[in-house]
Amino acid sequence: MASVPADLVIVANRLPVDRITGPDGEPMWRASPGGLVTAIEPVLRANRGVWIGWPGAVTGAVTGGSEAGMEPFEHEGLQLDPIALSAEEIEGFYEGFSNATLWPLYHDVVAKPEFHREWWEAYVAVNRRFAEHAADRAAKNAMVWVHDYQLQLVPQMLRELRPDLRIGFFLHIPFPPAELFQQLPWRRQILEGLLGADLVGFQLPGGAQNFVRLVRQRVGHKTHRDLVYLPDGRTVRAAAFPISIDVDNFEELARKPEVIARAKEIRDALGNPRKVLLGVDRLDYTKGIHARLRAFGELVAAGELDVEEAVFVQVATPSRERVEQYRVLRDDLDRLVGRINGDYGRIGSPAISYLHASYPREEMAALYRAADVMVVTPYRDGMNLVAKEYVACRYNDDGALILSEFAGAAYELRQAWLVNPYDLNGVKDAIREALHADEKDLARRMRTMRKTIKAADITAWARSFLEEMDIVRSAHGKALLPADKT
Ligand code: ADP
Ligand code: F6P
Repeated sequence: MASVPADLVIVANRLPVDRITGPDGEPMWRASPGGLVTAIEPVLRANRGVWIGWPGAVTGAVTGGSEAGMEPFEHEGLQLDPIALSAEEIEGFYEGFSNATLWPLYHDVVAKPEFHREWWEAYVAVNRRFAEHAADRAAKNAMVWVHDYQLQLVPQMLRELRPDLRIGFFLHIPFPPAELFQQLPWRRQILEGLLGADLVGFQLPGGAQNFVRLVRQRVGHKTHRDLVYLPDGRTVRAAAFPISIDVDNFEELARKPEVIARAKEIRDALGNPRKVLLGVDRLDYTKGIHARLRAFGELVAAGELDVEEAVFVQVATPSRERVEQYRVLRDDLDRLVGRINGDYGRIGSPAISYLHASYPREEMAALYRAADVMVVTPYRDGMNLVAKEYVACRYNDDGALILSEFAGAAYELRQAWLVNPYDLNGVKDAIREALHADEKDLARRMRTMRKTIKAADITAWARSFLEEMDIVRSAHGKALLPADKT
């Protein structure tokens, strides 16, 4: 099937849906996990573009960038173009370079990054395939928006193939300080890859500053504030665009009578404790699940919390399960939860309800509605959309948010109980305070946080990025080097 050239092309490692095998053995589609999909799906819907990405499945035959038997298709009104990855590519590009090299390196080296030359080669090859596919799919002068750490070489590869395109790049995870980034044997290639874009977006100003500084030091280009001047006359801007969610949509969900009823059902099923604490994460070692469960466990052990009065619900969707560090984490958490429940749970009242399931959005909204205290304690996180989703669902201005100061969201949600997840006593203090806070205090904090996220939702985020793209691009060729360049 010949595809019509598109004016907006989203390029991300994953499609918003994964191909899985249904209960009847037939292939079916399921929403993909993670914040990128939550954030970008409404943008694509509003702009009627096409999304190029991997459908998640391990596939054998790769034919010219498209999976054998898998053509571009429409799913719930979205135009999707699948890119196949072979088993070797999944190992080298996805599990290897993306998730065992870049992911830990970009997250403060919370785990030790591994550097393997064959993983790098797979990363280059897969990035090239994404770039070639985007080049084929984009209309003349189209806007191509490339996303996240898995595809940092695509902007440069795409520019070589299609100089007419406007190219944006957004990094959903933190961009590390030079001291850590420098460990990467392919640091220069990554920086040059990103410089193929007209605009490189980061979650926080610190990420943009790290990038510009590295470009100056490692590539030797001239820079001035947030601008990089390339020898070919192009200008690249690096700036912060803190990502958000579709706030109205989450609030609407949370107000639905069936979601309210489901929230009540959840509390009933938990034995109607006085307080419900909630954690929701991909099962990832950056998320600090261990820290929060230990803090909770210690409060129970000390008799400060009674399991019939306060229960912890931890939803942890399995993620990247073939990567060693993720397997280790899963075993560690299984042991920790087993120990706390074994020592302190009672028949019908486990201290921690630990769930690996992936839920539809309505169920997520019901969980957020059911929780008195949301506990978000990553050791490092680009943004953390779960924190924003919780706030969006608390339309009565009730509920408490405990939030790691190392999550991007902490820069906006200042009225949360901000914690350092490495400081267990500090996390325990925050849990105590949040559980005992009076209604007035909760309402004051929640009202302000709700105002903040309403003023900067996903539509505003996309608009600001796309408007900035127009400005940067129209300045091309006209930009003069400032006299006092640094
Ligand atoms: P990350 O992108 O690192 O996974 P975020 O907190 O930014 O972290 O985004 C996670 C997204 O995945 C949120 O939109 C959240 O609602 C969704 N999510 C997390 N766990 C589940 C689950 N068990 N079922 C369905 N959606 C989930
Ligand atoms: O932004 C974080 C992110 O890595 C996205 O790029 C990704 O889609 C999501 O988390 C989930 O991870 P994965 O695609 O590896 O399952």
